[in-house]
Amino acid sequence: MAGDRRKQEPETTAITAGRDSSGALSPALWSSSTWHTDDLDGTHRGAKAVHKSGFYSRYANPTVESFEQSIAELEGAESALAFGSGMGAIASTIFALCSTGDHIVAQRNMYAGTLGFLDGPCKRMGIDVTYVDGRNAAEFAHAVRPGKTILVMAETPTNPHLDVVDLDALGAIKGPFTFVDSTLATPLGQQPLRHGVSLVMHSATKGIAGHNDATLGVVAGEKELIDTIWGYSVLHGATASPFDALNGLRGVRTLGARVRLQSETAQELAEWLSAHPAVKRVNYPGLASHPQHELAKRQMRWFGSILSVELCGGVAESRALTQRLSLVRSAVTLGGPDTLISHSATSTHLSVSPEVKAATGISDSLLRVSVGLEAAHDIIADFEQALQ
Ligand SMILES: Cc1ncc(COP(=O)(O)O)c(C=O)c1O
Repeated sequence: MAGDRRKQEPETTAITAGRDSSGALSPALWSSSTWHTDDLDGTHRGAKAVHKSGFYSRYANPTVESFEQSIAELEGAESALAFGSGMGAIASTIFALCSTGDHIVAQRNMYAGTLGFLDGPCKRMGIDVTYVDGRNAAEFAHAVRPGKTILVMAETPTNPHLDVVDLDALGAIKGPFTFVDSTLATPLGQQPLRHGVSLVMHSATKGIAGHNDATLGVVAGEKELIDTIWGYSVLHGATASPFDALNGLRGVRTLGARVRLQSETAQELAEWLSAHPAVKRVNYPGLASHPQHELAKRQMRWFGSILSVELCGGVAESRALTQRLSLVRSAVTLGGPDTLISHSATSTHLSVSPEVKAATGISDSLLRVSVGLEAAHDIIADFEQALQ
C-alpha cells in the first residue's frame, strides 16, 4: 500500500501516479480497440458501464486510464478524462456542458484555438460568450448571468503573453462551473482544483508528454462532472490514442525534473534578456518586473518554461533574431526538450483579430520562447550571438 500521498511533494507523486497493481513499473500498451466477452450479457454490461475499459476503446482503454489516473492524482482530482488533443478536451468539455441559449464567461487572451472555438462553433450553436480581462479577477464574477452562465473559462499563465489569473478569486465563483487551462504551468507548477476551481485541463501535447511525440489532452475534476463529460465525449469521439497516453505517462514520470530545470533556465534567460539593451520587454511570471509577480508567487510552485520577448526595433528585428539563432529553432508548440522560438502573431495566433491582438499584447514583434533542456549558458550564448 502506498504511503499517505497528501504529504508527498508532486514530484514524488509523479513517479508512481497512475501505476497499476501488476508490479510492472511501466504501463502496458493496450492497442486493442475492442474486448470480447463470454456472452451477450457481458457485452451489455460493457455498454452500460461508465468510463470503464474492457468494452471498446472509444469508451475507455486501460493504457489511457493509467494516464488519466496519473493526472487525477497530480491535480488532486477524483477523476480525469483524456482526449486526442488539448483542443479535443476544450471543445468536448464546452459542448458536454453547454447548450443553445447558455452563456459562457471567458478570458479575452486565451489560446487562439480556444477563442476560435468560442467565436466559431459556440456562437453558431447559439452559445453566448462574454469576454473579460483575466488580469482583473473581479471581471469574471461581474460578467456571470445567474441561471444563464454555465462556464467561466480562464487560462493561466496565458499563451503567449504570460498573464496570470487569480485562482482563488476564480474558485470563489459559485453557480457556473469554473474551467482553467493550466497547460503552461503543468500540474507541477500549480493545482487549480486546490483553489476551488471545478475543472482543470491541459494540452498534454506540451509539458506533460514533454518530448514532442504525443498529441493529447486531459480534463480533471469531480467524478460526477467528468462522467458527464465522458457521456458526451464517447459521441464526440476526440478519443486519446493509447500510444499517446503511454508517451503522456512516460512524460509524467520525469515532469518534476523537467519543470524544475526548465523553470530555472527560463528564469535565467528572462533575467539576461531583460538586461540586454536590444530588448524592450520580457514577459515571465518569475521576473520581479512582471505586473502579477506577487500573485504568481502565491499560486505557482514553478514559473514554467515559457517566456515572451519584444525587441526594441520591431518586426524586422524580431524576424532577424529568429534567423540568426542556431541552437534555438523556429517551431510552434512548447514544453518539449528543444528550446523553440515562435512568432505568435503570424503562427499560433494568426486567426486572432488585430483589435484583440492589440488588447492582449500580441504585438507584431512579440516572440514566444519555449525553454528546453539544454544547458542554460548554451541557450544564452545563442541569444547573445543572435542579438549582436
Ligand atoms: C494554452 C493552450 N491550450 C490549449 C492548446 C491546444 O492544445 P493541442 O494543440 O494539444 O490541441 C494549446 C496549444 O498550443 C495551448 O497552448
